[in-house]
Amino acid sequence: MDKPVYQQQSPQVAERFAKLKQRPVVLDVEHLGKQFLSPQGEIIQALQDVSFHVHRREFMSVIGPSGCGKSTLIRIVAGLETPTSGEINLDGTPITGPGPDRGMVFQSYTLFPWLTVKKNVMFGLKMSGHGEVEAEQDAMQWIELVGLSRFANAYPHQLSGGMKQRVAIARALANRPRILLMDEPFGALDAQTRAQMQAYLMQIWENVDVTIMFITHDLDEAVYLSDRILVLKANPGRVDEMVEVPVAHPREPGQFLNPEFLATKEHIEHLIHPPVTEEIERLPIQRMTPVGDDVY
Ligand SMILES: Nc1ncnc2c1ncn2[C@@H]1O[C@H](COP(=O)(O)OP(=O)(O)O)[C@@H](O)[C@H]1O
Ligand SMILES: [Mg+2]
Repeated sequence: MDKPVYQQQSPQVAERFAKLKQRPVVLDVEHLGKQFLSPQGEIIQALQDVSFHVHRREFMSVIGPSGCGKSTLIRIVAGLETPTSGEINLDGTPITGPGPDRGMVFQSYTLFPWLTVKKNVMFGLKMSGHGEVEAEQDAMQWIELVGLSRFANAYPHQLSGGMKQRVAIARALANRPRILLMDEPFGALDAQTRAQMQAYLMQIWENVDVTIMFITHDLDEAVYLSDRILVLKANPGRVDEMVEVPVAHPREPGQFLNPEFLATKEHIEHLIHPPVTEEIERLPIQRMTPVGDDVY
């Protein structure tokens, strides 16, 4: 039997995946589990037996229904939560806490409002021991990379949402992290700004030596950006499937309607939201007021 369309890789795409798998593993997650206690004292199994690895310069997205443990997973990678079981290694070394080898961009704007764009980007550099002059030079390079040189001396409140997230990306990249961790970074942006940010992120990823782990609940975004997509299930949060995206690189918005793009989206959509079989319930409504025009 022929493979489904989302599993059919052109020779170019297959070769790209073969090469990707030969690259060193940056992030190695083995049998990871995480339990929380609810306020009522019940155990919540946020993650159960989650295993996967991310290769150098790979763009991996994590997708899944609300509450399936996406944020918990990325917070464990960031060192902000400790796992209850399993192992997690960055470049072969166990993660025991936060560190400059991981950069983080959240959905909410996390810039320091009292610092200019430049000082925001310099902040992490100075924390990790760079001198003022060097930190400033480096910061200006990253600010230029995200196209905001003209706003280096502006304050966060003078920037649009998209611009703030570009500064957050520059700040996260300035420390040259091994992996960039992004938790729904464009979730609060309007559709047009979001599309623009996705295109910017693709360009940055193509030009900077960085591996990206990206959480989203937007299927278009996941398929457009990712090499592979880790699909999680909820209750308990666990791996459903790792999907290799069969869409060729370089990625461009024109690919959104390609058959392989649509097939991948549809497959993941079915994993996350199995088709509803029940009929939509009809409301017991009768006409309550005289209505002039019949709608049908
Ligand atoms: N600090 C916490 N204390 C208790 N329960 C938590 C905590 N953080 C997350 N959870 C629970 O763990 C599960 C996964 O949450 P989360 O990782 O935020 O999911 P997602 O990001 O996929 O929506 C949810 O049931 C959530 O209520
Ligand atoms: Mg979340």
